[in-house]
Amino acid sequence: MRIAPFLFLAVPLAAVAARASEPTPGRQRELVHLVRQDCGSCHGMQLTGGLGLPLTAEALRDKPLEGLEATIHGGRPGTAMPPWKSILSDAEIRWIVEKLMTGFPKE
Ligand code: HEC
Repeated sequence: MRIAPFLFLAVPLAAVAARASEPTPGRQRELVHLVRQDCGSCHGMQLTGGLGLPLTAEALRDKPLEGLEATIHGGRPGTAMPPWKSILSDAEIRWIVEKLMTGFPKE
């Protein structure tokens, strides 16, 4: 079977590709800080709500991922929720939403 070596190569490459859009560990620490500080100023330091809605895993459970991402990307016109697209990439927004939905890391 001459094709076998390629299979061994293809599997780890696919795993790397799937993770490629995830922020680096250093950037992840910055994002945790940003969410706790900047988002926390409206959503509460524990993200349990304030001026903004709660961003806990429980509160977000039934909300569609895409809608939450769109809210962070573009903000909600007519409310205090500002757009973050100039500060956060789509991959970073996705990472933040995934973390919010599974319980956001402490700093
Ligand atoms: C200046 C205040 C403010 C800041 C800062 C802020 N938000 Fe918000 N956010 C709001 C408000 C107010 C709402 C509710 C809007 C509405 O009434 O629909 C909201 C809504 C949201 C929602 C939708 C929640 C839901 O249940 O539909 C998400 C997700 C969200 N914000 C994430 C973030 C993230 C992540 C950050 C930081 C990157 C952030 N917000 C920073 C005020 C803020």
